[in-house]
This record gives sequence, C-alpha cells and structure tokens, in this order.
Amino acid sequence: MGFLTDTAKRLLPRSLLGRSLMIIVTPLVLLQLVSAAIFYESHWDKISLRLARGVAGDIGTVISLLRQFPDAEDRNWIFRLAADHMELTVALQEKAILPNQPAQPRGVTEQAMDDALREQVTQPFVLDTESLDRFYVASIQLPAGVLEVIVPRKRLFSSTVYVFVLWMIGTSMILFGVATIFMRNQVKPIRRLAVAADNFGKGREVVRVKPEGATEVRQATTAFLAMRERIQRQISQRTDMLSGVSHDLRTPLTRMKLQLAMSGDADGISDLRTDVAEMEHMLEGYLAFARGEGTEQPRLANLTDLLAEVAEQARRNGGQIDLHCEGPFTMPLRPNALKRAIANLIDNALRYAEHVWIRAGRRADAIEILIDDDGPGIPADKRDEVFKPFFRLDSSRNPETGGSGLGLAIARDIVRGHGGDIELGEAPTGGLRARVRLPV
Ligand SMILES: Nc1ncnc2c1ncn2[C@@H]1O[C@H](COP(=O)(O)OP(=O)(O)OP(=O)(O)O)[C@@H](O)[C@H]1O
Ligand SMILES: [Mg+2]
Repeated sequence: MGFLTDTAKRLLPRSLLGRSLMIIVTPLVLLQLVSAAIFYESHWDKISLRLARGVAGDIGTVISLLRQFPDAEDRNWIFRLAADHMELTVALQEKAILPNQPAQPRGVTEQAMDDALREQVTQPFVLDTESLDRFYVASIQLPAGVLEVIVPRKRLFSSTVYVFVLWMIGTSMILFGVATIFMRNQVKPIRRLAVAADNFGKGREVVRVKPEGATEVRQATTAFLAMRERIQRQISQRTDMLSGVSHDLRTPLTRMKLQLAMSGDADGISDLRTDVAEMEHMLEGYLAFARGEGTEQPRLANLTDLLAEVAEQARRNGGQIDLHCEGPFTMPLRPNALKRAIANLIDNALRYAEHVWIRAGRRADAIEILIDDDGPGIPADKRDEVFKPFFRLDSSRNPETGGSGLGLAIARDIVRGHGGDIELGEAPTGGLRARVRLPV
C-alpha cells in the first residue's frame, strides 16, 4: 500500500498547474476512451458486417447469373454488369482448380468478409486479403473453373470512424490548450504571492503584489499585505521606542557622570563610576543598532568579500583568524548589519579564545557560516540563554571580559531579519561553534 501511494505521489505532477490540468483532463480522456470503446465495440463490428454482406450479396448475384446463363458469350455482359454497377472486377479461370492458400491474419473487416461470403456462397472459396494493396481477391470454385473477384477495399471501409476519432483528438487538444491558458492565469497570482512571502521572510525587498485572481487568492494576498504592514509597523515601533529610551536616558546619565566626577574619591564612588560607564556603553550599543542597521535596506552584496573584510578588521585588532570561504556568494543582504552580526561573533570568540576559524559554504538552499574557537565554550544548558539581552555567563564586572551582553542578541536579531538563524554548539577544536545559516 505504502509503496503504491509513494509511486503514485512520485508520478503525479507537483505543481498546482499540473494538478489542476490533470483534474480537468483525466476525466475527459477517460470518458472519451470509454465511450469510444463501447461505441466501436458494437458499431465497428456491425458496420463491417453490413458492408461485407453487401459485397458478398453482389458476388452471390454474379455467381447466380453465371449459373443461369452458363454460355461463354453470356459471361461478357455479366462481367461488364459487375464492373459497371458493383465495382467488382470478375474473371473466370477456365478449368482451373482452387489453390491451397495458407491462413492469413484476420482483422475485423477480413473476418466479416469471410463470414458474409460463407453465408452467400455454397461453393468452396478462398479469400486473399494480403496480396493486393487496395483490393481483396475472392476465388470461388465453380464447375467451369475458378471465378476470381477483385473487390476494392474501400467498399468494405467506413471512413467516418477516422473522421470521428480525429475530431475527438482535435477537440481534446483544443480543450487542453484552453484549460492550460486559463489555469496558468489562475496559478500566476498564487506563485507571485509565494515569492513575495518568501522574500519578506528573508528580509528582502518585497516586489509589488496586488490582490488579483480568484477570490480566495485575493483574500490570501490581502491578508499577507496586512500582515506585512503590521509586522513592519511593529518592528519600526520597537526600534523607535528603543532609540527613544536610550536617547532620553543619556541626559540623566551625563548629569550623573558630571556629579560623580565632582564627588572626589569617597568610598564606593569608583564602583559607581564603573556602573555608569557600563550603562553608557550599553546605551551607545543600542543607539548605534537602532539608528543604523535597523533601518538599512537590503541590496545585492558579495558575502565572501564581506567576511574577508570583517576578518581583516579583527586581525588588525590582534586576532588569529583562519578564513575559508567556498565560493563567491552574491545575494541580497543588509551588508552593514550582517557585518556587525559576524563581528559580534568573532569578538566573542576572540575574547575567550586564542584562535578563530571561519568557514563558509553552501548547504542545500542556504549559506552556512561556521565560526569556531578554541576557548572554553558555553555549557549546553546555557546556549539558549546567552542570546537574551544583557545575559552574560561571567557576571563579574571584569572590564577585561566585560561587555554589555547584547552582542549575541543583536547578532541573532540581524540574522533572523535575513530569514536565517544562529545556533551555538561545540566546535571540534574544543571551544564554541556558532553556526550562521542564511537562506539563499
Ligand atoms: N565564544 C565564546 N566562548 C565562550 N563564551 C562565550 C562566547 N561567546 C559568548 N559567550 C558568552 O555568552 C555571553 C553573551 O555574549 P554576548 O556577545 O551576547 O555579550 P558580551 O560579549 O558579554 O557583550 P557584548 O557583545 O555586548 O559586548 C558572554 O558574556 C559570554 O559569557
Ligand atoms: Mg559579545
């Protein structure tokens, strides 16, 4: 059963156009085949027999006439009569004997002719349906010799059958063509909607879609457009709010910094200064993100060059980086945002490890970027939490390893905005492996 359904699934067309055409055409063809089969089963046999009986009757008439007028002179007018009015060419081989003839393959027409002759002619006869192209030859043993009758094949065929079949095939083809044109127009808006939704999911520019086609497709397109509007509004609202909050917090923070600077070196003041400096750092990070990459428009960019650039920058800051990229990957990207995401990951790696390996390659329908290091890694149960904003494993405020805890959150946000994702795992080199997947 399973095997059958699998085979059927593999054989059936996958596209909507193919399937709908099959739904229209299959019953049509079946109907025509069945009706044609039933019709011809009876019609073909009957017509063949009728036509054959007509010919056999004519031959019987000629034989009767020959028996009634046995004189040699009479044969002439009998033969002429047969030629003029019955389309039969008749000749008598005097004193001849019917030859033995091997059995010949018989179709419906030949069989009908044979049966009809057997009804009409009592003498032994042989029917040759093969030797001549457009004629049958019936040889009948008469007392005077062998009577040869040449019957044109067209007397035994009805061409209406072929005309009918041609019409049937012709109209089917026309219907198939018309159905294809109509269905293609129906499928087009669905395909367009799929492309638009796919692009939107990957954070790319959405080509213009407008509601068109059948009601359901229109509905889906309208719903998609409304959803896109809502999501875009939400994103911009979030970015606006974050940048607003960060911006507004800067003023009181600056005031606090001034006051701390004037407070001299009392107990606890230096701790407070570190805190304030950290808060300032966080706000700067947020603001930079909200102002810049959050609103960047996607454009066609070369991922290989982008990775090389980020790696070069990190090397300049003293990192040991191996970069291996499998090929030039050109795709729609927000280059500055993506650079920041990758840089965040490399920053992290360099903060905890000595050596970083970056590899990029194509996997099925995505580009995969692996960033491995030889540091301590992150325990498996913490790999989800580190993506949360402000979450840091090292909770000491050590400025050596200290960051704001936003790096991974921002990186994931950017990569998800491209329709991909970041996963953390264990690198074969012992440290952390960050796997960035970008759909092409
Ligand atoms: N390659 C790594 N190896 C070990 N631990 C890591 C690695 N990358 C991240 N972590 C851990 O995950 C935490 C969160 O990282 P994240 O990049 O979000 O923040 P951060 O690096 O502390 O600060 P920021 O990147 O904002 O300066 C880090 O504090 C660190 O404890
Ligand atoms: Mg970081």
